[in-house]
Amino acid sequence: MDRIRIVGGKELHGTIPISGAKNAALPLMIAALLTPETLTLENVPRLVDVRLLMRILSNHGVDYAIDGKRPGDAPIAGQTLHLSAKNIVDTTAPYELVSRMRASFWVLGPLVARMGQAKVSLPGGCAIGTRPVDFLLMAMEKLGASIDIEGGYVLASAPKGLRGAEINFPKVTVGGTHTALMAAVLAKGHSLIRNAAREPEVTDLANCLIAMGAKIKGAGTSEIEIEGVSGLGGARYEVLPDRIETGTFAIAAAMTGGDVMLERARPELLQSALDMIEKAGARVTSTNEGIRVTRNGSGISPVDVETAPFPGFPTDLQAQFMALMTRARGTSRMTETIFENRFMHVAELSRFGAHIRLEDDSAIIEGVERLKGAPVMATDLRASVSLVIAALAAEGESMIHRVYHLDRGFEQLEQKLGACGAIVERVSEPG
Ligand code: UD1
Repeated sequence: MDRIRIVGGKELHGTIPISGAKNAALPLMIAALLTPETLTLENVPRLVDVRLLMRILSNHGVDYAIDGKRPGDAPIAGQTLHLSAKNIVDTTAPYELVSRMRASFWVLGPLVARMGQAKVSLPGGCAIGTRPVDFLLMAMEKLGASIDIEGGYVLASAPKGLRGAEINFPKVTVGGTHTALMAAVLAKGHSLIRNAAREPEVTDLANCLIAMGAKIKGAGTSEIEIEGVSGLGGARYEVLPDRIETGTFAIAAAMTGGDVMLERARPELLQSALDMIEKAGARVTSTNEGIRVTRNGSGISPVDVETAPFPGFPTDLQAQFMALMTRARGTSRMTETIFENRFMHVAELSRFGAHIRLEDDSAIIEGVERLKGAPVMATDLRASVSLVIAALAAEGESMIHRVYHLDRGFEQLEQKLGACGAIVERVSEPG
């Protein structure tokens, strides 16, 4: 098992290329199940979750090919994936695979839409609260699927096909919206998704489905209308840049000070987070190249933040921003409204000398002048990278254990930080 060693105290200076968004790539790959033709995705990040999903999809009968390197490719360039679900040979998504990545549960929608049935294990994924799937099942039932749960599996069937319906989500859900969209595009008639997630990854999925021949209006708003079609074709589609990776590196630069250009990053994908990073004392400027983040001399100011669905402050940047606040000149409060129990990083951040206490769904962070390097343990994907951010600013050496969480969602993290002057290396853990 690998660990990451960081010697803190270096400013970050340089350029970081932003990868394709993991959370967009995953549903886009799953959308390949909806068509017998080839779906080609560009700018797919090289991540453990992407490889795992390829295995899951190939288990259903999806063939895939990855383009090799081309002359002139940047050292960190997304990959091009060709996915072809000509024949779906198996509509079961087994526990061994689904339990390792929650998003793979989303195969439910397209499998039922195209094949009239699916058997999908109830999911696992990051340990950040209970994360039920009741809204996803409700959406499938509204669209005419009958649902049973047996032995830890969801059995869904709609032998005569799905039919359009109105789906009203009681709470904004990204996975619920993805599932409803992917099912409704092949349902007979008209569907309306109310209180739909407005996250850019939902818009990305809708745009790709439209390129495949789906009829969708209103993606990116809270009401999405779908007119079902009898079949979808292939398409070529480029995954949007990762807003969580962008925000993470922007926060890292604000934390260490320095001057970093986040290449290909798009400010409209994370405006609320960029506003908070500026309030904390960094300068954020957008150029044709991407987003530039600088902090020279000025200290870090405390900022209160509450997570919210898009366009609000993303829950996936909560842990990273908390790391930044540990060094603010004053007290700040971070309130988590999306997931209960998403504060596992608090105990680990405290190991660097941070002063944080929990009060219901909030963390109160009293900034300290300096953090000190420490051995820490990664817990979930986004929490792990908050430890990297703290370690970059801590005095002395830190060792981050269980970095497989990081590998699920951050492409070449050490290389990207190392190129900006950070002292960071991966070491293989014995045993
Ligand atoms: C996705 C993202 C994740 C992000 C989250 C919120 C991917 C792969 N994952 O997760 O990184 O943190 O959106 O932006 O894109 N809920 C229910 N019942 C359900 C479904 C959800 O109660 O059936 C609740 C959840 O527990 C949570 C809230 O709804 O409190 C939002 O969850 P949701 O948006 O569905 O998160 P995911 O799609 O799992």
